[in-house]
Amino acid sequence: METPSLNLHRQEFGDPKNKDQVLSLAEAHELLNAWVLNDRLKVHMKQVGHLMKEYAIQEGLSSLEAHKWHLAGLLHDADWDQWPDQHCRKIIEELEARSIDPEIIRAIACHGPRYFGVEPRTRMDKMLYAFDELSGLVHAYSLMRPEGYAGMEVKGVKKRLKDKTFAAQVSREDIDDAAQRAEINLEDLIAFVVAKQSSTDLN
Ligand SMILES: [Fe+2]
Ligand SMILES: [Fe+2]
Repeated sequence: METPSLNLHRQEFGDPKNKDQVLSLAEAHELLNAWVLNDRLKVHMKQVGHLMKEYAIQEGLSSLEAHKWHLAGLLHDADWDQWPDQHCRKIIEELEARSIDPEIIRAIACHGPRYFGVEPRTRMDKMLYAFDELSGLVHAYSLMRPEGYAGMEVKGVKKRLKDKTFAAQVSREDIDDAAQRAEINLEDLIAFVVAKQSSTDLN
């Protein structure tokens, strides 16, 4: 998706004094709708946002924390549609200008370590990276199944992962790398994505 020239050449983002400063969900959707014209990309961003929020809730985090996770997922590709050569620099600078919590900005900055050159550190960083590509592959799989998400099994997803011609743009290397960094078993990660993506209709 991205090219090496997207390296951000820094590891710190935002200002610590903006901790807990967030966009409301309405503000985030406004930004998303203004910046992203591609409906498929919008669905992807909403799906990743949903996964992030659900994971934070499952981990017992507060509603403010879960909202931050949600925002990171929801906005991580905000600049990809119109400004692919500035991905993800533009959204980072926008959120910095809006004085948003640095944790959210940093999570967005490390959703592709190979491209942006930023190492995932926190749980939020690692899970955004872990969900990003896998979410897209699972969704592509649902679109080719007549029954969509109904009855989807982990082993079916694993078969598609092995078949490099299926959703060929999805980086298997990144999925494995992300699961390792998050110290989460790939089967468990797939099961979570399937369960949470199937239970919501974001189209
Ligand atoms: Fe991206
Ligand atoms: Fe993405």
